[in-house]
Amino acid sequence: MSGRIPQGFIDEVVARADIVELIGARVSLKKSGREYKACCPFHNEKTPSFWVSPEKQFYHCFGCGAHGTAIGFLMQHEKLEFPDAVAVLAERAGLEMPREAGGAHRAAGGTGDPYEIPSLASRFFEQNLKDDPRARAYLAGRGIGEATAADFALGYAPDSWNALLTRLGTPPEERERLLQAGLIIERDTRGGERQAGFYDRFRDRLMFPIRDARGRVIAFGGRVIGEGEPKYLNSPETALFHKGRELYGLYEARRAHADFKRLLIVEGYMDVVRLHQAGITYAVATLGTATTQEHLHKIFRVTSEVVFSFDGDRAGRAAAWRALQNALPLASDGREMKFLFLPEGHDPDTLVAAEGAGAFEARLQDALPLSEYLLRQLAEDVDLTHIDGRAKLAALARPLFARLPDGVYRELLVDRLAGQIRMPAAKLLALLQPVPAAAPAGRGAQQARTDNGKRAALSGGRGNLLRQAIVLVLHHPGAACTLTAAHRLEHLEQPGVNVLRELIDQARQSPQPTTAMLLERWRGRAEFSRLADLAARPQLVANLDAASSELQTAVEKLTAEYGAGRRVDELLQKAQESGLNSEEKSELTSLLGAKGRPPGKTPEPTR
Ligand code: UTP
Ligand code: MN
Repeated sequence: MSGRIPQGFIDEVVARADIVELIGARVSLKKSGREYKACCPFHNEKTPSFWVSPEKQFYHCFGCGAHGTAIGFLMQHEKLEFPDAVAVLAERAGLEMPREAGGAHRAAGGTGDPYEIPSLASRFFEQNLKDDPRARAYLAGRGIGEATAADFALGYAPDSWNALLTRLGTPPEERERLLQAGLIIERDTRGGERQAGFYDRFRDRLMFPIRDARGRVIAFGGRVIGEGEPKYLNSPETALFHKGRELYGLYEARRAHADFKRLLIVEGYMDVVRLHQAGITYAVATLGTATTQEHLHKIFRVTSEVVFSFDGDRAGRAAAWRALQNALPLASDGREMKFLFLPEGHDPDTLVAAEGAGAFEARLQDALPLSEYLLRQLAEDVDLTHIDGRAKLAALARPLFARLPDGVYRELLVDRLAGQIRMPAAKLLALLQPVPAAAPAGRGAQQARTDNGKRAALSGGRGNLLRQAIVLVLHHPGAACTLTAAHRLEHLEQPGVNVLRELIDQARQSPQPTTAMLLERWRGRAEFSRLADLAARPQLVANLDAASSELQTAVEKLTAEYGAGRRVDELLQKAQESGLNSEEKSELTSLLGAKGRPPGKTPEPTR
C-alpha cells in the first residue's frame, strides 16, 4: 500500500512530524527526563507506563507493548489506514500529498473504518450459516453446538462467486474496501479472459472469523465442507492481519476468563473451538505457521505458563523442535513452557471427543517441561557412555544454550546438562560460552566459531554483535554517518547483515535521520515489527558520540570474527576434500584454540 506514496514524501512527513505534539494533543503527557510519559491510551492503567521519545520520534508502552512512530500512532489510535495517516501528518505539516499512478482511486472514500468491512462480512456469514441446512449439518456432525458456534461467530460463505460481492461491494469504493480486506479477488485478465471483474475469495466454506485482542474481526479462515483442497483457506495478509502475530481464540479465551493459569497452543481452528466447548477455554491456535516469538511475547503478556501441543507423528515432532528453538530466548525464571505430545493419529479435537475433557486436562499436567524436552531430545542418538558421545552432546547443546537469556533458568539447565555429560558445571559453562566478544582481529588466540556468527541477527538470544549494531543504528541513526568500517560489511553473508547494511545506507541518505524515519522505510516488510521491537527498547547508550564509537567497534568485531569463522569452515572443508598441508593444519589448530572443534555438523537453530 505504501508503494503508492513516494518514499521520499513519507520521509519528509516523518521528518516534519512532532510526535510529542501529536500525541500530546490527545493524551496528557508529563515530561520526565528526556522523554514524556502518560497513562497508556491503548490499555487501562492507573500508573503511567507509556513513554514518548522526542529524540527517537517513537512511543512505547511497557505495559501493553504498544509502540510505533507518528504514523503508527495515528493508525493505532485513530484506526487510520497507512495512506490516511500519512495524509493527516502531511496536512499538519502543510505538505501537498503527491500521488503516484494508480493511486487516484484512494482519494475517494479512503477514510472509512477498516474494521467495518470484515465485521459486516462476518455478520453476513453468520446469518448464512443459520440459513444453510448443509453447513449446519456439517457443524453438527463435527460435534459443535449452536452456543459454541455463536461464541466464535462461526459462519458460512455461500456456494457462489459473488454472494458477498453483491451484498457489500456494489459501489466501486466498497469493492475497493473488500479488495483491501482480502475478501474478494480481482480476476486475472491477462490470459484470454475478456471480462475484468472480481469474485468472492471464500466460497462454500465454514467460516472462522479471526478477532483481534479487542474482539474486532480482522480476517477469516474458511474450511471446505467435507473433503476438498485446500482444506483451509485463510485471508491474505492485510493492513489489519499479520499471520505471524495473531492467535486464533485468544480473544475468546480472554473473554471466558478474567484470569487464566495457562494457555494451550494447538494447531487448528477446530481444535480451539472443540476444546472451548469442552470447557478448555484457554486454547489458542497459530494460523498454519510455527509459533513465532511475536506470538510468545503476546502470550506472556497474559499468562506465565504455556503448553505447546503437537501431534505425535513425525511432522509434529519436527514442529515441536522448531517451536522449542523459537521459545528459547523467552525461557526465563518465572515462565513455564511445556510440551505435550498427543497419541499418534489424534489432534486435540479428536482426542477430547474420544476421552473427554478430564482426561485431556490430565495429560496437560504431565506435559514435558521445556528443559526436560530439550535435554531428552539432545541426548537422543547420543551414546553417553563414551567421551565422544558426551563431547557431541556438548556440541549439540551449544547453539541452543546460546539462545537462552542469562539467568537462573540457564544456570540450572547447564547444571542438568553437566550432570548428563558428567562434567563439572563450571567447565561446561565455559565450553558453552559464546565467542568472546573481544576476539582480536588477527589469527591466533581467538576461538571464533561460525555457529555463533550465523545466528539469525534479528532473533532473540543474547548479546549478539549484529543485533547490537542494528540497535545502535536504530537508536542513534547519526552514528551510521561517522562509521568508517561500513564497507567491510559487504563481504559478510550471515542472515541479518543485509538489514544492518540497509539501515546504515538509509541513515546516511537522510540529512537528519531519526529512529522513526528509518522504521517507516521498513513498513510492510517482514522485518518491520521486529525492528520496531528493537527500536522500542530503552536506549542503553546515552549519546551520539558513545553510540558512534560502539557501532564502530561492533562492526569491526563483526567483520573480524566472521572472517575467522569463515576461514575455519574453509579449512575444514578442504580437510575433508583434499587434506591439509602442515601449515594449514597448524592454522586450523590455532583458530580452533586448544579445545578443538568436534567433527560433524551441529544443527543450526532454524528460524
Ligand atoms: P490440519 O490439517 O491439522 O486440520 O490443519 P485440522 O485442524 O485437524 O482440521 P479439521 O479437524 O480437519 O477440520 C491444522 C491447521 O493448519 C492450517 C489451519 O490453520 C488448520 O487449522 N491449515 C491446514 C491451513 O492453513 N491450510 C490447509 O490447507 C490446512
Ligand atoms: Mn482436526
